[in-house]
Amino acid sequence: MSETIELLNKRVSIRKYKGDPVPEDLVAQILRAAFRAPTSSNIQSYSVIVVDDPDTREQLKVVTAGQQHVVEAPVFLAFCADLTRIEHVMAQRGHTIRDNNMEIGLVSSIDASLVGMAAYMAAESVGLKGVMIGAVRNDAAATARILGLPDQVYCVFGLCLGWADEAPPQKPRMDYSTMVHYERHGTLRDNRDLGQTLDAYDADLARHYTDTGRVTTSDSWSHDMDKKFDPQLRDNLRRELKSQGFDFR
Ligand SMILES: Cc1cc2nc3c(=O)[nH]c(=O)nc-3n(C[C@H](O)[C@H](O)[C@H](O)COP(=O)(O)O)c2cc1C
Repeated sequence: MSETIELLNKRVSIRKYKGDPVPEDLVAQILRAAFRAPTSSNIQSYSVIVVDDPDTREQLKVVTAGQQHVVEAPVFLAFCADLTRIEHVMAQRGHTIRDNNMEIGLVSSIDASLVGMAAYMAAESVGLKGVMIGAVRNDAAATARILGLPDQVYCVFGLCLGWADEAPPQKPRMDYSTMVHYERHGTLRDNRDLGQTLDAYDADLARHYTDTGRVTTSDSWSHDMDKKFDPQLRDNLRRELKSQGFDFR
């Protein structure tokens, strides 16, 4: 159909990499392409930190609860929401973005995410594989300290990249017809109710986890979501982001 659609259809997160390095100019080309991603009102409110230093990687591994690929991936990129450039020009005009509202926090996070996904796909297009690392937000303040992030910058997620040294099967997704609604939310093209579709997905995912040797329950996805969000995940994040200058008020 198209190379991009094919890449997406085959895509899977990869967490084990060969030792072969990724040339610095290839990383630069990937990032240059990613910076062509759309950006809300052209605000370009992101920065990317290329993290090579093994000590820094070790520290990030601690924040990410011991994720070994954070240390071992040939490339680690930290995608940050960054309001410093906007603050700079506003300060020159006697204004400030301080006490910023929800909108700027969201658009800068979306901007950073779009650039991160664009970089990920650009990397895939040259045969690199990777995995995004949201666990940098386990302790956003520690990540900010480790990466030297100033006020008004926070790390939205990291991205490990390298040449794959594993070929795991794809994790099943929910049915197309569960995700796509017509005209109004809830208007699906088949008549199954939400409970039925989620039961079917739980069974699919449980089979996938069992086949790949991972412990699971018969209500796999439902069980995982319930466990993940009750008690609430990263409940201190709002305070940590506020201390980085993101009010989300
Ligand atoms: C924003 C974001 C953060 C993620 N954080 C992590 C992470 O910290 N560690 C990890 O191993 N995988 C992480 N992942 C990968 C997801 O677990 C993975 O995409 C999901 O389980 C689906 O698997 P697949 O990508 O192989 O299809 C993250 C993905 C996204 C989009």
